[in-house]
Amino acid sequence: MSWSPNSWRNFPIKQQPVYEDQKLLKSVEEELRSYPPLIFAGEAINLKNDLAKAGRGEAFIVQGGDCAESFNAFNADVIKNLFKLILQMSVVMTYSSGKPVIKIGRVAGQFAKPRSSDFEEKDGVKLPSYRGDIINDIAFTPEARKADPKRMLKAYNQSAATMNLLRAFSRGGMADLTQVHRWNLDFIKNHPIGKKYEELSDQIDKAMKFLAAAGINSTTAPQLRQTVVYTSHEALLLNYEEALTRIDSMSGEWYDTSAHMLWIGDRTRELDGAHIEFFRGIQNPVGCKVGPTMKSDEIVELIEALNPNNEEGRLNLIVRMGADKIGEYFPPLLRAVKEAGKNVVWTIDPMHGNVEKSATGFKTRDFDNILSEVKQFFEIHKAEGTVAGGIHLEMTGEDVTECTGSTSCPITVDDLGNRYHTQCDPRLNAKQALELAFMIGKKF
Ligand code: PEP
Ligand code: CO
Repeated sequence: MSWSPNSWRNFPIKQQPVYEDQKLLKSVEEELRSYPPLIFAGEAINLKNDLAKAGRGEAFIVQGGDCAESFNAFNADVIKNLFKLILQMSVVMTYSSGKPVIKIGRVAGQFAKPRSSDFEEKDGVKLPSYRGDIINDIAFTPEARKADPKRMLKAYNQSAATMNLLRAFSRGGMADLTQVHRWNLDFIKNHPIGKKYEELSDQIDKAMKFLAAAGINSTTAPQLRQTVVYTSHEALLLNYEEALTRIDSMSGEWYDTSAHMLWIGDRTRELDGAHIEFFRGIQNPVGCKVGPTMKSDEIVELIEALNPNNEEGRLNLIVRMGADKIGEYFPPLLRAVKEAGKNVVWTIDPMHGNVEKSATGFKTRDFDNILSEVKQFFEIHKAEGTVAGGIHLEMTGEDVTECTGSTSCPITVDDLGNRYHTQCDPRLNAKQALELAFMIGKKF
């Protein structure tokens, strides 16, 4: 079956905006097509190789960032704090497991959101739902909620600047393993989880001094001072993704150059839909969310559509069932995939199946449910003899109060209003994310 970056346009599509000005849309797409790629195909291939390692149990994936990036909250500190948090979590996990962590920021492009309803109603006024800053604005006015194609250009520019800073931090010294103390975020430092991290940092310092005495330091071994942080987002808005899909001059293959890895959401993964059509033609590593409605025969067909050559590291299945459902729904899927002999990398998103509305009206998630889904994910893999390859989190390096619970940071329902800043779903704050990392580290 022939494929082209725009062949998705011949298939039914869900969760898309309605653009009134089609002429403007065309001109924005044209402009985006002329912009430079945000990633290089070689990097996507490196990620594929890294994911293959995670699929074999030789590494672990940490993928995390905002539910939705925003134009307003865009600044260097937010990016730096997310970067530091990812490094902290990695060091915690690597230290206890002895395995490398593959770092993926859910960032530099995570703008478009699927919504449960096309419209939002408030006090008798009905307006189109907010679909992410790449599409419309969150303010509840008719003007703000209009889908504006020019927002794609702003999203591209913000992604380029974010990517630039992440690359600078990764290579310019911030990731140096002699700097582990500096990754501890200010608001965590004097807190029990921050202190636990400080103790671990002291041990790493000792190890680094020992290595230095043996002649191994960040000059002689550059891997001690550099890291790689890959990027990912949900490729929901296919107008944007198509415009950034380019032929790699080395291999002659198509890559979506908006991020290293793209995923399909749980609401747009129909086998005969536009998203599967788009994804089957790009050579990046791809993800697909797997929710409780997925069926065993469907998952095998989905794998065959997205990874016909059964390539290792190509396909990341991101399980998001909910703590109360994973025990029932996940094992049959896992067995079906195993019996079919398919190479996939299983990771767990313990966020999206555990959403609840607090008595005070906030969309939230409880840390205990998040932890419970992660634990069950590990236990199920252990029982089936398969590999738990990583975790996918909505988290931020900021001190927000969006998810309840955790020992290190016991946010109660009444605290949620204090610093509830998310544009979309509730995120773990840095303390909660770090606590989770300490717990996971012991398991893999
Ligand atoms: C998300 O990751 O923000 C999301 C919408 O997830 P899902 O497709 O799993 O609901
Ligand atoms: Co979300």
